[in-house]
Amino acid sequence: MAKHRVAKAGEIPPGGRRIVEVAGRSIGVFNVGGEFFALRNQCPHAGGPLCEGPLSGFVRSKVPGEYEYVRKGEILRCPWHQWEFDVRTGQSWFDPVKTRVRAYEVTVEPGGGGSSNGGLAGGELTEAGLEKGPFTAETYSVSVEEQYVVIEV
Ligand code: FES
Repeated sequence: MAKHRVAKAGEIPPGGRRIVEVAGRSIGVFNVGGEFFALRNQCPHAGGPLCEGPLSGFVRSKVPGEYEYVRKGEILRCPWHQWEFDVRTGQSWFDPVKTRVRAYEVTVEPGGGGSSNGGLAGGELTEAGLEKGPFTAETYSVSVEEQYVVIEV
């Protein structure tokens, strides 16, 4: 895979995103609390512009009348039919009986260091009664090198 500089790190602030064209693909690059993630801007359902959709979180409740809002800004909703995907992994959290789409490992390497983020908080969501769906939006490796956001495609 080749590395592509897609933005200066400061051009995508926390909570922000940029949609770029790389190697013939439209890719959304997201800054979630200072961590960068990249997903293909093509919904695995019907090809909608997934990365143009709103970001939200999940509401979970252990008892009636009490709830908490978790994973704020980490759940991407497709603007066409509202299917939801985890920005960190591309994993869907619905419809457990259909197709699976290939996922790529996503890494964040601020200043050249690195860390893996695979499946953060997935266990929490399963405990809350959510079930992973079979769909996964295509994701790409992301790193920050000398103030540039770089993705591998
Ligand atoms: S195209 Fe994305 S939910 Fe249908």
